[in-house]
Amino acid sequence: MINLLFLSLAVIIAIVVILVSAKHIKKGFDARSEVRNQKQSENLDQEVQDITNEDIEDDPQKGAILNQLDDYLIILDKYKNIKYLNPSAKNKFGKESLGKHIATILRVPDLLQNIDLVLNKRKTINMDLELNQPSFQFFKVYIMIGESVFSDDPDTLNLFLKDFTEIVKAQKFKSDFVANVSHELKTPLVSIKGFLETISGHAKDDLEAQKKFIPIMLEQADRMESLIKDLLSLSKIELEEHIQPQDKVNLKEVLSNVADIHQKNLKLFEFKNNIKDDFFIKGDYEKLIEVFSNIIDNSVKYSEKNKKIEVNCGQGNGKVIGDSYTVSIKDNGIGIPTEQLPRITERFFRVDAAKSKKVGGTGLGMAIVKHIVNQHRGELEIKSEAQSGTEIKVHFSKF
Ligand SMILES: Nc1ncnc2c1ncn2[C@@H]1O[C@H](COP(=O)(O)OP(=O)(O)OP(=O)(O)O)[C@@H](O)[C@H]1O
Ligand SMILES: [Mg+2]
Repeated sequence: MINLLFLSLAVIIAIVVILVSAKHIKKGFDARSEVRNQKQSENLDQEVQDITNEDIEDDPQKGAILNQLDDYLIILDKYKNIKYLNPSAKNKFGKESLGKHIATILRVPDLLQNIDLVLNKRKTINMDLELNQPSFQFFKVYIMIGESVFSDDPDTLNLFLKDFTEIVKAQKFKSDFVANVSHELKTPLVSIKGFLETISGHAKDDLEAQKKFIPIMLEQADRMESLIKDLLSLSKIELEEHIQPQDKVNLKEVLSNVADIHQKNLKLFEFKNNIKDDFFIKGDYEKLIEVFSNIIDNSVKYSEKNKKIEVNCGQGNGKVIGDSYTVSIKDNGIGIPTEQLPRITERFFRVDAAKSKKVGGTGLGMAIVKHIVNQHRGELEIKSEAQSGTEIKVHFSKF
């Protein structure tokens, strides 16, 4: 909320600065026009072009304001036709929209109604503008009326759009996250409570029922514990993400340790760890164990028994700057449908929530992997095809 107040204040200051600087630009333009005795163009678009190119782009002081502005400034005439777009607005909406009706770039009934209101009441209006096509965008729009640098016409409309998309997205992400966590914790808790009610109520003397329910309750409690552990781990990694670990770590040792940890499960597969040489990178041993444990755990969970799981390491072939090594973990499991690939590292995302839940998954493993790899300034590459298998590559800078 405080952030929004500050940003709103910043917007108002920016508008004042723009309008004041606009006056100066106009004065300079008028003076030069007189000296040069140039014929005033009949065409307003042409006039706008001249001012933009000569006065703003060539003048570092004036250009500094409108050219550098990330927000969008759109000037309309009283017919709502676009007469001017600052460079960022031109970038966003395309310069071909100059001269066209505002509805060609922003077909939003509320916005058009508010523009009419501003024209009639001659008062500034501000409004929220949410667009969902092609992707979610959120703007605060200030609609002002009055003479400006581009026209002496008092019916000129100035639309100032401040982009709040990232802030609104972050707020939405937070509330989605809380909803997801609550849901994930509530499910096992409700089930434990149900069993407790049964064995303390009508089944209190039923030893058979107690024998059956207690292990299920323990399993649900384990699920809650592992969810909380993952959440704590994620929040700790996020806090430390800006500090790159500096220890000298041998990837051979990390992967062999991970293979030992998962030995019991890996015995059921055709598992091959082909790392025979030392590969030293800059990192944090425990966190790297967490990365490869999560990846191997997925290969085990999402492959049928006896399928191949293979681990390799060699010269880097990713986008990491400088000399690097690449670790690859390849399985022949159920794979991931191509359209779901970009979402695999999102918190709580599971391709098939029911199936993943059955094998004890909460959808946090790959989010943890992504954050740890980012902290190492490495790169995570996921290749997969439904029904044929998955290959996860992690690229790291050499020590
Ligand atoms: N090797 C893989 N093969 C097939 N699907 C995979 C593989 N790795 C990940 N996935 C898919 O990506 C989803 C997200 O993986 P992630 O590791 O984040 O969560 P999870 O395994 O469901 O739960 P958790 O790791 O928290 O126990 C999985 O639910 C699964 O659908
Ligand atoms: Mg997992």
